[in-house]
Amino acid sequence: MSEWRDIAKTEIHLHLEGAAPPDFIRQLAGEKKIDLSGVFDAAGNYKWVDFVDFLNTYERACEVLKAPEDFKRLVEAVLAESASHGVVYTELFLAPDFCGGGDLIAWKEYLAAMSEGAIAAKAAFGIEARFIATCVRHLGADQAKITSKVAAETASGLLTGWGMGGDEAFGAAADFTYAFEQAAESGLGITSHAGEVCGPDSVRDTLDNLPVSRIGHGVRSVDDPDLVRRLIENDIVLEVNPGSNISLSLFKNLKEHPISALRDAGVKITVSTDDPPYFHTDMTAEYTNLHQELGWEVKDFNAINQTAMQAAFCDDATRKTLLKKFEGA
Ligand code: ADE
Ligand code: ZN
Repeated sequence: MSEWRDIAKTEIHLHLEGAAPPDFIRQLAGEKKIDLSGVFDAAGNYKWVDFVDFLNTYERACEVLKAPEDFKRLVEAVLAESASHGVVYTELFLAPDFCGGGDLIAWKEYLAAMSEGAIAAKAAFGIEARFIATCVRHLGADQAKITSKVAAETASGLLTGWGMGGDEAFGAAADFTYAFEQAAESGLGITSHAGEVCGPDSVRDTLDNLPVSRIGHGVRSVDDPDLVRRLIENDIVLEVNPGSNISLSLFKNLKEHPISALRDAGVKITVSTDDPPYFHTDMTAEYTNLHQELGWEVKDFNAINQTAMQAAFCDDATRKTLLKKFEGA
């Protein structure tokens, strides 16, 4: 085990379905006799060529996740893998669209099963997890209203957040204000993907129209100094996923990635993996690369983990206990 595998970590931007190992998806496809031709390459990895194709492959792989039990198995597998990389606290994005399509009764069964999976993982590996229900932007604002309603009606226990993923280029943030307000009124913490494949305007649009305390990615904000100042003044936390961004060719390599520039300017940043098997990464690799290529040390990692715990969508007792793991150095 490497030094960077052992160090305690938080991860606040991890898509449950996007963290499904290819073998897990293939196994379920075999059990259910579902044809997934075109989803994997010759080496057995997920196959995609660009962001939109990535989203297509992702949705095709999700076709095998059909029952609450499938999601329970997936939560347990994903949390076991996270814990093996030293993650002690994680927030999993999960889409009600894949869990009954927005039907409340069905969603409750899925949520109960996923919660059982997280409780079993905590008992086995000590990892603490919370769930962030997400709408899929390119499915549109009407569907987002349906999914935010089921999230708002079940906001308790491990379900503590609401967010939005999917194709950032689809529609305007204002289309989703109703869905986000509905979720926020139920007490869920709020985040949204922005500034990943679209530029600073997308982040500004999100801040203007959605009640977020965090932004998924947000890294393209670096192109606009006024926006960087706004992120700092409004205490907005960025869920940065360097390996994902590089894999999607948004930046050539870590040296050209804006994570250091944003941090040095005073923006609150954190580090996560997004969809690790799709982007050939994991939390150990993220930390190892930040150390080797940008010279980050334990004090730098402790700082981002403190930021993540302060921004986490969890109760204060959990926050306080976990913050202690990131003191010192
Ligand atoms: N859903 C899963 N991964 C995503 C990403 N990186 N951007 C937008 N939506 C996503
Ligand atoms: Zn994401």
